[in-house]
Parts: sequence; structure tokens; C-alpha cells
Amino acid sequence: MRSLSVESPAKLNLSLRVLRKRKDGYHELYTLFHRISLRDTLQLSKRKEGIRLYCSHPKVPKRGNLIVEAFRLLKRQFPFQGGVTVRLTKRIPVGGGLGGGSSNAAHFLLGMNRLYRLGLSQKKLLTLGAKLGSDVPFFLSDHRYAVGTGRGEKLQGLSLRRKLWFLLICSPKGLSTRKVYQGLRLERRWTSLTRVRHDVKITSAFLQRGKFRQATQFLKNDLQASAERIRPSLMKARESLSALQLGRCQMSGSGPTLFFIFLSKRKTQQALSKVRNHLLSKSSSLALCHSF
Ligand code: C5P
Repeated sequence: MRSLSVESPAKLNLSLRVLRKRKDGYHELYTLFHRISLRDTLQLSKRKEGIRLYCSHPKVPKRGNLIVEAFRLLKRQFPFQGGVTVRLTKRIPVGGGLGGGSSNAAHFLLGMNRLYRLGLSQKKLLTLGAKLGSDVPFFLSDHRYAVGTGRGEKLQGLSLRRKLWFLLICSPKGLSTRKVYQGLRLERRWTSLTRVRHDVKITSAFLQRGKFRQATQFLKNDLQASAERIRPSLMKARESLSALQLGRCQMSGSGPTLFFIFLSKRKTQQALSKVRNHLLSKSSSLALCHSF
């Protein structure tokens, strides 16, 4: 095999609770990850040596790109002959809180494992992935719906037979994850694990039964206030979207992407028309997607 193509889906954090700041500077999380159909495509082709990354999207960093870091890490830990050319078709907003960069790195590793028949077990891949970023292991796992604990890298799969639909409100300007975590007001963030576990259990049970109104009562993103302090227009957007009575308007990850959850494509399309008519910033874009 000389080349292959890999799909690289995004995630939403249906809920993201920050429990405490750790000694290593990271934050202990309890988050609900959900894989969605919005996705990038990676085309991998063998080359003699090194890595070449091509991406038409101007905002994708070439330097320090997680795909390049993943290649270097792979070479260091499991030396093999040969290099790779990567063509990345970007559809996931960059710096949007949808895990695009982490997903690209994870699917690059999965693709390289196949392309070069490296024979890496999922356990080895998960260990590599955790070194690259807190969200990378989720994309290496087979889960489409999971609780993430620790930095977000410890996963427990959950079952959700229902297909969920989402309307995403994407901003053209990303937010820095590191800055959003730095801006957390921690004294008010000492959340009880028992309480959070309970909330997540209830959310999943309600989602499973299609009881959205009840489920969304328990969804919360502890990074939202910090993201809105950094970008006040985000609060305005969330408030005006909430006034449309389409259910709860949530932020994913460290933002700034906002989303609504629905049970059917029809409802999501109706919401899309409504939101389009009320969109505050003309530069925001809307995306309709589903569980994947
Ligand atoms: O793990 P990742 O490199 O994606 O994290 C980016 C930044 O986000 C970290 O450098 C850290 O500042 C912050 N972070 C955190 N706690 C987490 C995950 C990320 O403080 N659980």
C-alpha cells in the first residue's frame, strides 16, 4: 500500500466540569465527549523520508502542528524506515473547541499504523496519544460517546443508541485552550465529584430516552465563563441564541463554538433557518451534523 485516506471527525463536549487544578498545571476534568460527523480528511502517501504537510487552510499551523509532532514521536518510539506526505482537507474550525487538531493527530497515528503495518496495539497508541494532547486518546478509542476523566485522557465508553443532531455556531476566530484554562476562577471551581458523576449519569439516562429538556438541565461547561471573559461577544451571542427558545445553547471544550442538540434532522434544519435569520455576527458560520 502506497497511500490511504483517513476521515478525522470532531468532538463536542456535551458537558465539561473542572474539578480542580493539579500540581502539574493541568486541570482534573469530568467531561462527556461525543463524536460528530463534521470531519477533516487526511490523505497519507509514503515518501522516502521525513514528513511534508500540505493544507489549503491558512489558519492551520505548520510549525508545531500536532500531525508533525505525532510523526516525530512515532519515529522516536518505534523507529521505522520511510516518511510520509500528508494532505489535510480542513472542515473543522481551527481553535474552535471541537478537537480538530487532536483528531488529526490521532487519525494520523491510526493511518500510519496501517500504511506502514507498524502493528501498534490500541494500548500503545493511547499512550502515544496522551503525550500529544489531552483530547487525542478519545479520537484513538472506538467510543463515540464517553466520559473523560483525568486531563480528559482516561476514558469510559457509554452507550447511546440514539442518534443526536447538532447545530453548531462557529466563529471564524479561535480561542487558545491554554488561555481559557488560565482564566478560570478556581476558587469557585471546587466541584464535588459525586455531584458531577450524578449529573452526568442523569444526563445520559435522559438522552437515552430522548428527554432533551431534562437532559440539558444538567449540561454545563465550566470553561464558558472564562471564554466569555476573554471574548465578551461570545456571551452576547449565547444570550441572543438562548432567547430563540431552541433549547440550551452550550459551548464545546474551550470554545468558542456553540451548539444546540436535537433529536431529528428536521428539527435541526428548522433551527438552522431560525438562527440564520438572527445571526449576530455575519462572519459566524453554521454547521448541521450528527452523532458519528
Ligand atoms: O493537553 P493539551 O495540550 O491539549 O492542553 C492544552 C492546554 O490546555 C494545556 O497546556 C493546559 O494549559 C490546558 N489544559 C488544562 N487541563 C486539561 C487540559 C488542558 O489545564 N485537563
